[in-house]
Amino acid sequence: METPTMKPDTVLILDYGSQYTHLITRRIRSLNVFSLVISGTSSLKSITSYNPRVVILSGGPHSVHALDAPSFPDGFMEWAESNGVHVLGICYGLQLLVQKLGGVVVEGESKEYGKMEIEVKGKSEIFGSESGGEKQMVWMSHGDEAVKLPEGFEVVAQSAQGAVAALENRKKKIYGLQYHPEVTHSPKGMETLRHFLFDVCGVSADWKMEDLMEEEIKVINQTVASDEHVICALSGGVDSTVAATLVHKAIGDRLHCIFVDNGLLRYKEQERVMDTFERDLHLPVTCVDASERFLSELKGVVDPETKRKIIGKEFINIFDQFAQELEKKHGKKPAFLVQGTLYPDVIESCPPPGTDRTHSHTIKSHHNVGGLPKDMKLKLIEPLKLLFKDEVRELGRILNVPVGFLKRHPFPGPGLAVRVLGDVTQGNALEVLRQVDEIFIQSIRDAGLYDSIWQAFAVFLPVRSVGVQGDKRTHSHVVALRAVTSQDGMTADWFNFEHKFLDDVSRKICNSVQGVNRVVQDITSKPPSTIEWE
Ligand code: XMP
Repeated sequence: METPTMKPDTVLILDYGSQYTHLITRRIRSLNVFSLVISGTSSLKSITSYNPRVVILSGGPHSVHALDAPSFPDGFMEWAESNGVHVLGICYGLQLLVQKLGGVVVEGESKEYGKMEIEVKGKSEIFGSESGGEKQMVWMSHGDEAVKLPEGFEVVAQSAQGAVAALENRKKKIYGLQYHPEVTHSPKGMETLRHFLFDVCGVSADWKMEDLMEEEIKVINQTVASDEHVICALSGGVDSTVAATLVHKAIGDRLHCIFVDNGLLRYKEQERVMDTFERDLHLPVTCVDASERFLSELKGVVDPETKRKIIGKEFINIFDQFAQELEKKHGKKPAFLVQGTLYPDVIESCPPPGTDRTHSHTIKSHHNVGGLPKDMKLKLIEPLKLLFKDEVRELGRILNVPVGFLKRHPFPGPGLAVRVLGDVTQGNALEVLRQVDEIFIQSIRDAGLYDSIWQAFAVFLPVRSVGVQGDKRTHSHVVALRAVTSQDGMTADWFNFEHKFLDDVSRKICNSVQGVNRVVQDITSKPPSTIEWE
């Protein structure tokens, strides 16, 4: 007998544009509860198709009085009530509930931004029946405030300034928090979310990465017919590797991976990643050595954008050729392309209404196979599209991707081309850079700092300076070292190495790499700089 598939309880988040919306999702998932974000103006049909146990209305930058203030669809509250679905409004979400259900929201006399003390009033469900009189610090960020509650609602917490901080209508299972429980500045926020989900809503903590993996494998098998072939371009990074490993587990050797050596890889990169692909992951990978092709196209090119375009175009030519060869071999065109798209890319590609956020694929597009020829007509398989980066790493661990590989610093698609300033083919710039980079990274590993740094690398500068080595004057190159801390690469700060570490690295580089007599460190944050130099 077939076992029925158990769907995990889903907490659906309607996004009204808060900068914290992703964070709510992540916090809920960290409690082993499945959570998804969709636009706050989604249709009722779309909302109900997820069959959620709980719906959270997020915060957002709007006033409920604005003409274009985004809202849930007509019939949503009625549907929630008749299906026993709990609804929680956070910040703007609370105000939207109050306004829509017949209460009054006005522009607050004194706005509440930042830390604020609140006091829990009497018995409430959302804080637990024992919490009456408790005080806690929370993170507020609102201008408007609810001054009259709709019928059936009760204030269950108030801010020190007397504003409504939490409300509920227990009969209708509707709740609201004026503050952000998901941020660490609300120290008891997680406890409140946990209590709300498990004790008030009765949600089960039944979402596990193993289940998601099995589910994805099933979907891939249903999508790809038994005589169809799938291709995947491996970059050597975490996302494409985990995506390919998962697809390989589903369809075996009908997956065909390609890894392109474009001549712009790091020291022994080709051997190292191919070793992981073949020995550890048993992935079917064709390694194409196209370094000559790339480097001859890049000869004399100094403009960074032109470099990127040339690299992108060359890559697509090689990919196209690979697909044609597969067609000859298997008598059938590959029908699907695997991409390691992650959840933040999916969310950000459909920004909520009224926000200034736009399609933000700019950085990610370097990593994906953008601009494939239209006549290839490949359908996409994106098995990681519901996952955050740390969840991809967890999935990778389950799929036996070596942990060291999962923790690798990100490496840009155009490789060392964005780390050699100017013409990458000048002299032996690439070779010098490879050696310097290897010494730097190895020293970071030896010092036990690799996992504390988000990304570290060396840069080749196309200038020479005078030095003295042995008893001879030299006129050699300058290299720069860059190491940054960051959450997501969008902003970054430079990493503060100890004096002795820098001293040792600099000495090692000048003593062992021919053609370098000066080492400098990049001490700029992003902004104003970028992380890579070009
Ligand atoms: P930036 O330098 O833009 O880097 O602050 C942010 C993150 O993106 C990577 N990056 C690139 N990746 N092609 C890429 O594939 C590029 O041209 C590029 N520029 C930056 C960078 O390594 C960092 O992880």
